[in-house]
Amino acid sequence: MPTTPRTRYPTALITLHWLTLALMLGVYALIELHDLLPKGGDARALVKAWHETLGVTVFAVVLLRLPLRLLLGVPPALATTPRWQHQLARAMHWALYGLLIAAPILGYLSLNAQGTPVPFFGLQMPVFIGPDRALMRQIKEIHEAVGTMGYWLIGLHAGAALAHHYLMHDDTLRRMGLSRPTPAALTPTPGTHRDTP
Ligand code: HEM
Repeated sequence: MPTTPRTRYPTALITLHWLTLALMLGVYALIELHDLLPKGGDARALVKAWHETLGVTVFAVVLLRLPLRLLLGVPPALATTPRWQHQLARAMHWALYGLLIAAPILGYLSLNAQGTPVPFFGLQMPVFIGPDRALMRQIKEIHEAVGTMGYWLIGLHAGAALAHHYLMHDDTLRRMGLSRPTPAALTPTPGTHRDTP
């Protein structure tokens, strides 16, 4: 029996992708707001605690997303996408997964090294390293650098997806959306390729 190639991401992966975007918007908005609030105030501490809680949530979501990706699979490259663009997009996706893993781990460890509990919906979170001020400063610096890189990665990734949709009028965004890609997505054109995820 012939099988139709998958044209969009599985619904569970689409849901987790947009949930991650919502969480990341929260994580970044809260840390920017934290920097604007007066030092020592309750509001600043609350905003920081929510930044940390959402950060741990991002990590939990990526821990669920990666095995699901392995289990459910992802659609093959669009027939209309040149190989170099597909390879660049794939490298970008793994860099984004790296961000989603590294940033929360570094933030978490910096709190451990500071001797501060990690807030996560009232749960007692495990402590992996003891208080160490010098180490805390180093981890915090790397956490902030990774966060800044994240702005660029997410900006470039979102910009590329939107450019595919609005300028190139292809099905890239529809693969991660609710509407179905057009049948043209399945028809290879000369000079392009189709490969596995
Ligand atoms: C407006 C914001 C965003 C838009 C428009 C967008 C759009 C997309 C689209 C269309 C794809 C599928 C690309 C393809 O099929 O080749 C995709 C994949 C992906 N996106 Fe986003 N995205 C956004 C934000 C984010 C954020 C904030 C993250 C994480 C920090 C993220 C992480 C990923 C990852 C890791 C993949 C690869 C999925 C996989 O193959 O497992 N995206 N995105």
